[in-house]
Amino acid sequence: MLPVNGRLQFDLSRGELYRHRAKGKGYMEKILIEGGRRLEGTVAISGAKNAALPILVSALLTDGWNTYQNVPELRDVMTINKLLTELGARVETEKNTVRVNAGALSRYEAPYELVRTMRASVLVLGPLLARLGRARVSLPGGCAIGARPINLHLRGLELLGAEISLNHGYIEAKAKSLKGTDIYFDIVTVTGTENLMMAAVLAEGTTTLRNAAREPEVCALAEALNQMGAQISGAGTPMITIRGVDTLRPASVTIIPDRIETGTFIIASALTQGNIKIVSCEPSHLTAVIHKVREAGVTIEEEPGGLRVIGGEPICSVDVKTLPYPGFPTDMQAQFMVLMCLASGLSVISETIFENRFIHVCELQRMGANIKVSGNTAIVSGGKSLTGAPVMATDLRASASLILAGLAAKGTTEVSRVYHIDRGYEAIEKKLAQLGANIRRVQIT
Ligand code: EPZ
Repeated sequence: MLPVNGRLQFDLSRGELYRHRAKGKGYMEKILIEGGRRLEGTVAISGAKNAALPILVSALLTDGWNTYQNVPELRDVMTINKLLTELGARVETEKNTVRVNAGALSRYEAPYELVRTMRASVLVLGPLLARLGRARVSLPGGCAIGARPINLHLRGLELLGAEISLNHGYIEAKAKSLKGTDIYFDIVTVTGTENLMMAAVLAEGTTTLRNAAREPEVCALAEALNQMGAQISGAGTPMITIRGVDTLRPASVTIIPDRIETGTFIIASALTQGNIKIVSCEPSHLTAVIHKVREAGVTIEEEPGGLRVIGGEPICSVDVKTLPYPGFPTDMQAQFMVLMCLASGLSVISETIFENRFIHVCELQRMGANIKVSGNTAIVSGGKSLTGAPVMATDLRASASLILAGLAAKGTTEVSRVYHIDRGYEAIEKKLAQLGANIRRVQIT
């Protein structure tokens, strides 16, 4: 089964173009929401997309069958599985379990059509260099939220001894062998840290990553690699040390819960004056979000097995600044902005990670939000209710914010281009409907 990328699909196995009637995926769908329903009940959080992607890629570092549990069923996971298959790995999926065997790794190219649909494909650079000494990966272009260069990934690989060149839009990387070294990141980079951690595990000698990302997903990757026999210490701190080993063995890993999905449901309960219990989550992975939502007057209590979130009025205006972990995550900025639209005063939201991550503002304004943007700061004047409208998703987290806004808005909200949301949320409309939301996905014929 291939990821659906639109109306026409080239089926590699059948070597032919065919019209794919999108079933639950792609451009041909909308999500409709009738706002005003209080959310009540229990919701279970899926595995973390941003942990699953690097951990699935880490299977390239060894032969034998790696088994991954609690893998979310997402478009991005389908894309990475397709990429692993193209490289020669065998991939078997059974609902939320994925098995990968890269014993017959034969190719080292990540093609443009895959990388442009998902930039995290660049994560194969490190493992391919470590395993095969070669990699040819399309340079990811920019994306809706910013230029998102990968210069720090490439610089780190060069420091490890790789020769890097750029030809016809592709990164060509070669390395007879990789040698451990000291690497400093000018900017904290999540996938940069992950890429270089995976490049260094089979290098000769010791590598130190300074100013490394501290996200829970980075720690989850380090734990998975150590289960494979790597020797990584310091994950979760700004300095990670990797002692190179000769080979790695397959592992069996359970993916950590998705902290951004958890935060999204916390906001959903808060802005509908709901009362929900969130289970299969890891509250310690999103303390900044919990603190700021509590500051806005929302009750969030830890209960056995999860979190209880009780929305109430008034919602207080709160300022927030996105920062690398453990700061307030940029992936929760759009969702938090929706809550501030309903708050009783002015809030200042500063986006310090990406240069263009306010695209959702125009769509929220169409729903009546009063937001002014200046540079990387958005000033939200709350106190007004939102009204339903046809809106368009532009990136993954922006699309989540539009759905949240629809839950609180008076009337009907139509969110188009839902393929964005399917990249990072497993069956979001089913989970919200189970909590009492009036939400459904419709095919556009
Ligand atoms: C990861 O992206 C996440 N994606 C993003 O989640 C998340 O928003 C981001 O980290 C920040 O937390 C995955 O983990 C798959 P960065 P990543 O490298 O690694 C600059 C989502 O919605 N930078 O930490 O690509 C960069 O431009 C996605 O799930 C360089 O300048 O982000 C940005 O300003 C969206 N040079 C900043 O660093 C580089 O070589 C942080 O980017 C690398 C990054």
